[in-house]
Amino acid sequence: MNIILMGPPGAGKGTQAAMMVKRFEIPHISTGDMFRQAIRQGTELGLKAKAFMEEGQLVTDEVTIGIVQERLAADDCKAGFLLDGFPRTVAQADALAEIINTLGMKLDAVVNIEVPDEILFFRMTGRRVCSQCGATYHLEFNSPRNEGCCDRCQGSLYQRDDDSEATVSNRLAVYSSQTEPLVRYYWHLGLLKTINGNQEMEEVFADICKGLER
Ligand code: AP5
Ligand code: MG
Ligand code: ZN
Repeated sequence: MNIILMGPPGAGKGTQAAMMVKRFEIPHISTGDMFRQAIRQGTELGLKAKAFMEEGQLVTDEVTIGIVQERLAADDCKAGFLLDGFPRTVAQADALAEIINTLGMKLDAVVNIEVPDEILFFRMTGRRVCSQCGATYHLEFNSPRNEGCCDRCQGSLYQRDDDSEATVSNRLAVYSSQTEPLVRYYWHLGLLKTINGNQEMEEVFADICKGLER
């Protein structure tokens, strides 16, 4: 299955993606994760992305489209893919359509997770991420068994640089001006599955699975 996972920052894309890739056995392609890894490794890509991410702005379309194009051409994507956080602009969506077409693939569904803004704010400021395996926690809604320590791999948990209060407001504003128009874009193509993300994680996952069966 070839799926796009959309939704505002903090909606639970990464959380749901982790469950979806197990169920559907497809690779998880998160542009945010790719940029964060590049920053950690100090690569050229990381240097290009860092300043934008710290301010909660989008990395340029040119750079972002380039990494997705390369990633989708890899062998493991022949089994399908789950795109998380891409596309985020109309230009990216148009480019994706062309990439997919060139590769002889087609999109099956666009899953859009909806959550009210005031809840997104608490989700992001309370988020903690494992420095080793990338697992995501929340101080209140999904706390690890031992404080500051990953349940799965014992790695230490950290707060993302862009989860500060100031940056979170920027990210929400950027989402509504640049990314939200894609909801209509995919609705017009008949691909949109709207999911209520303001419920327990397992309930969100069950709704996504139901939506994809239809
Ligand atoms: P990216 O990493 O994609 O971040 P985002 O879209 O802002 O989304 P998040 O990762 O913050 O949230 P999420 O929806 O994954 O939520 P999560 O599951 O973690 O992008 C970061 C930056 O990279 C961008 O700002 C931009 O600069 C750049 N970038 C990336 N892609 C780009 C692109 N295509 N073009 C240009 N630039 C790009 O959950 C959040 C929290 O809530 C967690 O603590 C979790 O435990 C908790 N939670 C999850 N679900 C629930 C639930 N049901 N109930 C209660 N708590 C929950
Ligand atoms: Mg994420
Ligand atoms: Zn871990």
